[in-house]
Amino acid sequence: MFKVKPLAAGRLPDLLRAMPKAELHIHIEGSLEPELIFALAQRNHVDLPYADVEALRRAYVFNNLQSFLDVYHEGTKVLRTEQDFFDMAYAYLMRAHADNVLHAEIFFDTQTHTGHGLDAAVVVNGLHRACVTAQAELGITASLIFCFLRHLSERAAFEALEQVLPQRDKMIGVGLASSELGHPPEKFARVFARCRELGFRLVAHAGEEGPPAYIWSALDALRVERIDHGVQSMQDPLLMQRLAKDRIPLTVCPLSNLKLCVFPALEQHNLARMLEAGLVATVNSDDPAYFGGYINQNFTQTFAALGMSAQQAWQLAHNSFAASFLDEPLRRSYLQRVDAVFESFE
Ligand code: ADE
Ligand code: ZN
Repeated sequence: MFKVKPLAAGRLPDLLRAMPKAELHIHIEGSLEPELIFALAQRNHVDLPYADVEALRRAYVFNNLQSFLDVYHEGTKVLRTEQDFFDMAYAYLMRAHADNVLHAEIFFDTQTHTGHGLDAAVVVNGLHRACVTAQAELGITASLIFCFLRHLSERAAFEALEQVLPQRDKMIGVGLASSELGHPPEKFARVFARCRELGFRLVAHAGEEGPPAYIWSALDALRVERIDHGVQSMQDPLLMQRLAKDRIPLTVCPLSNLKLCVFPALEQHNLARMLEAGLVATVNSDDPAYFGGYINQNFTQTFAALGMSAQQAWQLAHNSFAASFLDEPLRRSYLQRVDAVFESFE
């Protein structure tokens, strides 16, 4: 554990912005800003049910996950070509780089887009080209995690997997996203077992709105290595013990939880309590174009609301790289960059 020096009053937000970090929970379609939605709609001759950028932004009021997913799905209809996927991902990677994100693990799905008549390869190739280009031009590293949509069937998940296998080398892992309630992880046990055989790293959304039982089954039926969200784990002391003992990371997204009414106010968020309980929590943005902030906003607003410390900032930055799927040499070099910033920060 690195002991962080005392900070001058008021300097914590600058440290949060300056510290190197990894982002492990970002849905690339959730980074589509209204301006880019309108630009792509024009480029692809897609009609939008909103008069302009402002009208679209005004629709971003949600009362639960499903109310968000309905609006989010409208936005995905403007994505038609490989270049569109490139442009969306490159815009996100530039924005993340500006927030001192050194490494991103990016969720995407193909089922949304094949449902709109696109080829899965168009999606994967555009996103992958953005990751390669951003690494060359900005130095940020990024990898792709292919998510199954849990409101669709197991059979549809197997079909989607089949369709992306020609692009296997462009993806590091698989995940599980979309409407959680009523779609427990075990519905996808067989497809996750197949992905495991294929050498994919495994993650799943669980315990965002769903009960602790969904986190247990993500661990035991899907055998995931990380839990996305997992904020409901705090209702189950035995589960917390398991997560702490096995050092299962949780990719927490505070502004998402606020906007989707998982917590009534940021002051009531359980991020600080997770760290105090020894859980490997990380901070992420989820769908930043919709939830009012990229990763640094998630850090600064949550730290202000919960009165969190510079030592906790170091812990979260450290956790983000520890929880990533980076290879060991690069993980170590990024962790050294975290310590160097904390050492030299005045
Ligand atoms: N897809 C995009 N954002 C999501 C979230 N917060 N939960 C589940 N699926 C999602
Ligand atoms: Zn998510």
